[in-house]
Amino acid sequence: MSDSLVILGSQWGDEGKGKIVDLLAPDYDYVVRYQGGSNAGHTVIVGNKKYALHLIPSGILHKGKKNIISNGVVIALEELLSEMDKVRDVVEDFEGKLFISDRAHIVFPHHKILDGLSEKAKGKNKVGTTLKGIGPAYMAKYARTGIRIADLFDPNYFRKRLEASVSEAKEIAEKVYNQKFDLDINKIYYNTLDMFEKIKPLVADTSLMLDTALKKGEKVLFEGAQGTMLDIDMGTYPYVTSSNSSALGLCNGTGVSPREIGKAKVYGVSKAYVTRVGAGPFPTELHDGDGQKLRDEGHEYGTTTGRPRRCGWLDLVALRFAARINGMDGIIITKLDVLDHFDEIKVAVAYEYEGAVIRDFPASLQVLEKCKPVYKTLKGWDRSTKGIKKKEDIPKEAWEFIKIVEEETETPVVMLSTGPERTEYVWIK
Ligand code: IMP
Repeated sequence: MSDSLVILGSQWGDEGKGKIVDLLAPDYDYVVRYQGGSNAGHTVIVGNKKYALHLIPSGILHKGKKNIISNGVVIALEELLSEMDKVRDVVEDFEGKLFISDRAHIVFPHHKILDGLSEKAKGKNKVGTTLKGIGPAYMAKYARTGIRIADLFDPNYFRKRLEASVSEAKEIAEKVYNQKFDLDINKIYYNTLDMFEKIKPLVADTSLMLDTALKKGEKVLFEGAQGTMLDIDMGTYPYVTSSNSSALGLCNGTGVSPREIGKAKVYGVSKAYVTRVGAGPFPTELHDGDGQKLRDEGHEYGTTTGRPRRCGWLDLVALRFAARINGMDGIIITKLDVLDHFDEIKVAVAYEYEGAVIRDFPASLQVLEKCKPVYKTLKGWDRSTKGIKKKEDIPKEAWEFIKIVEEETETPVVMLSTGPERTEYVWIK
């Protein structure tokens, strides 16, 4: 049995995975990002310094770790380079520490333009994307017009692909969105090749690297981005991201077989409540003072976009679904301390839909829109749990909360995160 581990979001993203990956990283040889792109945002606090990471795995802040951006990630090279600069006080030389898949696709400026046009055209039905060009980059990938890191090794081939890609984007802009945009292909071409020179020594066949590492028994920590409920296949479609942000994305995102990946443990990270950025169904959303209190206490504003996050009570219907599709071995609850000063805490254990009680997360948005949460109300603990590190310090009312999560999801809660610092957590199993 391998000791590799998957840490992924079991809600709509922003569950605090970055901090968990960061605190667990010392026990692993590799840390791997396998889907999404710079739409993700992880804040890691080390000492009194805050690092906002979007593309580079959180393991980069630790000495001696190999960090991989694997083939399932879409990479905006300018953002990758600027992020490398931001962590330069910790990492001077990235060789041997950061590896970039030769099969990863590149996000280009025209993808960002298309992201904006598509959102604008959707009007009030917009997805609320991060406007980082993620969707259009994955569209190009699946339309087989995308450009991969490997393509940059042959500048002539790259030039042809780039010209085709830009002219396709222009055609989409004109025909679909009735808009024209100007882009200097030469500039993008030379810029991309310049940027590529800087990362060339880091490019690798990461599928092979990972397969070899896993077979040798090296320990790999897989770091999911976004969350299960934003998964392109299993999430609240169409209000989702464009990749498989559940455990389902592990094989295609790393190029490693299900046989090897399947040996890793899976821990799903869940806030003690729910947040969501962008549009889409959110059955337990609160529009009242409790919602604002969660936002204020939890500092719920996006790392990537700064947008205020929508907030609501913990949704165990969604968490039960996430536990099942991810095969979760454990749940890590973050931000428990945000609930510290509520007299009553609610958790949704089912939905009521047209008079019937349902416990399984429905596919249809029309059904979801009409679902009313069936809540269990728990007594608050009115005591600070901020920064607690010992099981004995967990209030008995908080144990009740944990018990309900475990019963309803049939999954053990293994850890509580009790603050943003690396040291603020307690294993409870
Ligand atoms: P996109 O990934 O930028 O295309 O955005 C699609 C949806 O996923 C939008 O609702 C975004 O707000 C959401 N999203 C994307 N990345 C994240 C993330 O890291 N955390 C939370 N939500 C995200």
